[in-house]
Amino acid sequence: MQDAIATLPKVELHLHIEGSLEPELMFALAERNDVDLPYASVEEVRAAYQFHDLQSFLDIYYAGACVLLTEQDFYDLTWAYLERCRDDHVRHTEIFFDPQTHTERGVPFATVIDGIHRALADGERELGITSRLILCFLRHLSAEAAMETLETALPWREHIHAVGLDSAELGNPPEKFQAVFERARAEGFPAVAHAGEEGPPDYIWQALDLLKVARIDHGVQAEQDPDLMQRLAREQIPLTVCPLSNIKLCVFERLEQHNLKRLMDAGLCVTISSDDPAYFGGYVGENFRATAAALQLDLDDLEKLARNAVDAAFLEASAKQRLH
Ligand code: ADE
Ligand code: ZN
Repeated sequence: MQDAIATLPKVELHLHIEGSLEPELMFALAERNDVDLPYASVEEVRAAYQFHDLQSFLDIYYAGACVLLTEQDFYDLTWAYLERCRDDHVRHTEIFFDPQTHTERGVPFATVIDGIHRALADGERELGITSRLILCFLRHLSAEAAMETLETALPWREHIHAVGLDSAELGNPPEKFQAVFERARAEGFPAVAHAGEEGPPDYIWQALDLLKVARIDHGVQAEQDPDLMQRLAREQIPLTVCPLSNIKLCVFERLEQHNLKRLMDAGLCVTISSDDPAYFGGYVGENFRATAAALQLDLDDLEKLARNAVDAAFLEASAKQRLH
């Protein structure tokens, strides 16, 4: 089973590029850019990764991103993730980036996207890994700031496939961002949103009905609402579930208690991704391995999860056929 998981061709649909910043690279970039870190060593950084909810993680995650300053930094970050993809047999990946985390610190939008895009282009040419880039709005910031970010991004529209919504969920419902998602749709961008990670099922309804999303990121709280479960199953709305993230952020106490298999058994289109692998203890392969062991998934389940991700990807039919 371990070998089958290792070589299973995978598609990853929920990965924050800033969340792939390993402590070793964080230290190297801090030195290169003369940035002071509040940690003395890589071990100290790893020891600080003890979270009790989403916000306690976000505080450390945004602080870590401060070492990213130059185009080369964003290139190196993205390239390091693509090497992990190669090792995990990931053939296609859809990557979130959070431009506001960087523009708020004075790093130009161009620096961020040019570095990420250059690595993704090299990744396709040298590693054969295809990719899509999803621009995420930070939901703890204002709707106006999100609209400004979208407008700033438009000159790079060729490099951006879709828009998303992330950061602190509770108290920042999807309805706050209805106007910017409408504008993004008018500009031709499909949408996804984090919903039902910590937040209530109502946020998932809002993401579907107000933001018109094609996928729900996380969505595990849907289980509390039978009508929503029926809708997600009927419409085959993909959920990008991140099991190790959910444990690290205490959404479930133990992996054995995760509802991923119950969601599958209820007929939902479930996929597995890693979210912020440098912070949560595993890339997508490890998410498959740990979840399979904890929930006793068989090979059919794993192949179904992998196939669902191909179907849910922002790819044209011919590319999906090649991945199936
Ligand atoms: N940004 C990075 N990881 C996130 C997560 N798991 N939820 C919301 N926002 C995030
Ligand atoms: Zn996420």
